[in-house]
Amino acid sequence: MSVADLLDVLKRGRKVAVLTGAGISAESGIPTFRGKDGLWNRFDPAQLATYEAFLKDPKLVWKWYLWRMHLIANARPNPGHYAVAKMEELFPDFLLITQNVDGLHREAGSRRLVELHGNIFRGKCRFCGKEYSEEEFSQLWPLAGRDFLSSISEEELKGQVFDEIDRGNLPRCLNCGEIVGPGVVWFGESLPEDALSRAFSFASSCDILFSVGTSAVVQPAASIPLYAKRSGAVIVEVNPEETPLSPYCDFVFRGSASQVLPQIVSSLEGS
Ligand code: OAD
Repeated sequence: MSVADLLDVLKRGRKVAVLTGAGISAESGIPTFRGKDGLWNRFDPAQLATYEAFLKDPKLVWKWYLWRMHLIANARPNPGHYAVAKMEELFPDFLLITQNVDGLHREAGSRRLVELHGNIFRGKCRFCGKEYSEEEFSQLWPLAGRDFLSSISEEELKGQVFDEIDRGNLPRCLNCGEIVGPGVVWFGESLPEDALSRAFSFASSCDILFSVGTSAVVQPAASIPLYAKRSGAVIVEVNPEETPLSPYCDFVFRGSASQVLPQIVSSLEGS
């Protein structure tokens, strides 16, 4: 199947959804979760990405998140992110549904988006429920500020910054005084209600859904393309590897998001 075959379908499409996962940010230098070099091959999610882990050892959890935030603060969007931002201009009705917490889609210009798993630069107090925007959180705890993190080396992060954490410098909630955690969804937590309902309701009435750079195994995000398919949408997968979603797809592009998506966008623009 080629981009040209897809073009006919796209030209008729009015309502288009794009679901993205860690693979779209891989070429920006941000590791994915599964696969050979995936984070979950090197780290145990139960020790780092659960509320229980945070209660047991908030210093360890925050060091791991600051390490990831440092990587992200130094990363830039790649052609895949820019192509998705462009798609928003090309279709009358469009929604980007991302599982990524890195904010690179927004940095690339996407505006009609839902972040299903939250955003790593925001803060959330699990004790009283108070949420902090990126700006509020970096004021509360300057160690987590994007500008600060992008100004230091990995050695400085693991040296001075981790030492400060060991000495007890952790973000304390303005409301209840407890330790604030990152604004992401952990294993065992519910997804934000508004993001979830917006994603499912859009998927249930879209004409085309792109599933890009996701292993399509983490629920409930993994069922969004199937939900769209059941409602009659054409499903397009962009992923160098086969996923459990592949057999249900109408078009499959076995390539990287940063190569395939710009090709699709430029053929659309030229049509
Ligand atoms: P995964 O790490 O599970 O899957 C990444 C997918 O990207 C794989 O299918 C790869 O084949 C594909 N991939 C790798 N490089 C690519 C490239 N250059 N272009 C396109 N695709 C590429 O990541 P997710 O599916 O996002 O949740 O994982 C879903 C959730 O699991 C994450 O949001 C995270 C994780 O646990 C939470 O933390 C709640």
